[in-house]
Amino acid sequence: MKKNKKVYVGLSADILHKGHINILKTANSYGDVYVGLLTDKAIASYKNIPYLNYEKRKIVLENIKYVKKVIPQRTLDYVENLNLIKPDFVVHGDDWKSGVQKKTRKRVIQTLKIWSGKLIEPKYTKNISSTSIKKELENIIASPENRVSRLKRLMKSKNIVRILESHNSLTGLIIENLSIKENKKKIEFDGMWSSSLTDSATKGKPDNSSVDFSSRIASLNEMMDVTSKPLVFDADNGGQLEHLSFLVRSLERSGASAIIMEDKVGLKKNSLFKNQADAKQDKPHIFANKIKKICNSRQQSDFMVIARIESFILGKGLNDALKRAEIYSKAGADAILIHSKEKTPAEIFLFAKKFRKSKNFIPLVSVPSTYSKVYENDLIKNGFKLVIYANQLLRAAYPAMQNTAKTILKNRRAFEADKKIIPIKEIISLIKND
Ligand code: SPV
Ligand code: MG
Repeated sequence: MKKNKKVYVGLSADILHKGHINILKTANSYGDVYVGLLTDKAIASYKNIPYLNYEKRKIVLENIKYVKKVIPQRTLDYVENLNLIKPDFVVHGDDWKSGVQKKTRKRVIQTLKIWSGKLIEPKYTKNISSTSIKKELENIIASPENRVSRLKRLMKSKNIVRILESHNSLTGLIIENLSIKENKKKIEFDGMWSSSLTDSATKGKPDNSSVDFSSRIASLNEMMDVTSKPLVFDADNGGQLEHLSFLVRSLERSGASAIIMEDKVGLKKNSLFKNQADAKQDKPHIFANKIKKICNSRQQSDFMVIARIESFILGKGLNDALKRAEIYSKAGADAILIHSKEKTPAEIFLFAKKFRKSKNFIPLVSVPSTYSKVYENDLIKNGFKLVIYANQLLRAAYPAMQNTAKTILKNRRAFEADKKIIPIKEIISLIKND
């Protein structure tokens, strides 16, 4: 080992394998190794959050004999840490010459030049990527304990967590598997919304709690069987205070990450109906007791309770909403869903502006069903951490199915419908059997 030389290695190190050890061993042969360990936030800026959180990954790395010190690397970009350590060498596998890290590599070379540092690029160890190991670990990842905690971690690591409505296992699989590439970043949904509206509609029943929690949890479990992403459960008003701890226990056991409970009483009516004349809001302190009950009965502190404020839906206005937010936050809510059925997000943004000044501020949740023009970036700017697209998949499926049925009726045969639906060979192999 060369004396008094500093070597910098940037790592995510979620699942450590032989490839990492090769890099660290090589780095150690050049001098003292400083690992810049990417924070959850840094990793979330270009792919999904790691399975192990920063602290757990740090402990593993610190105990490897080739490593002198582990420091946080807060961005994908190395420059800040390089200026801090001024290493003589940076060691990185040669796989970053193309792909998402190409620009990062260039900046490393430019920065090292300032003090005549050198970049060492050992050959990348093939067929051993964390991604392929992760595939094998999917069963562990989908375990209830792991899944419950992932939503809270996502909210800490991402600018906004993106949730889409899922009303059965097939829609769950769309959310699980669909992604698009944009500027070499993978864009995907972070989890599923078990909506009372779409779960009820799928069963041909109104959204008034006719579908009871046993049935709601049965649908939820079917989605859990085939997915690994977090799920947020729409619990209407939570039902009776005395029954809540059993609901929470069922949800945690199934692996749901959060319960959202709205502050209404009486016969449930969907909030998007224009006429809310017979809908009533709960007394804030009574509703706060429900929040406390959930906090006291949950087994994992990562299981989140999200309080949904209906003041705007019922025409009660900003001050009522703000007063309730304070009370619910003090009662232990982890986040506030401020609901609205306006065409623009103006009222919820005003609410956010005021509530952000409070010492009891907690993250905000938006359901942009009626104000669907709003971009995620504007939600982020206004303090929202979670966006729930609450009903779009069912709204897409229903007219498609109805039109197909009509086409068959009109033509007295199925041929004309074939052009607009997926081929039989695709549908029979849609679900893999391995
Ligand atoms: C749901 O999707 O069931 C919701 C959201 O609770 S809303 O329909 O806007 O009430
Ligand atoms: Mg609902």
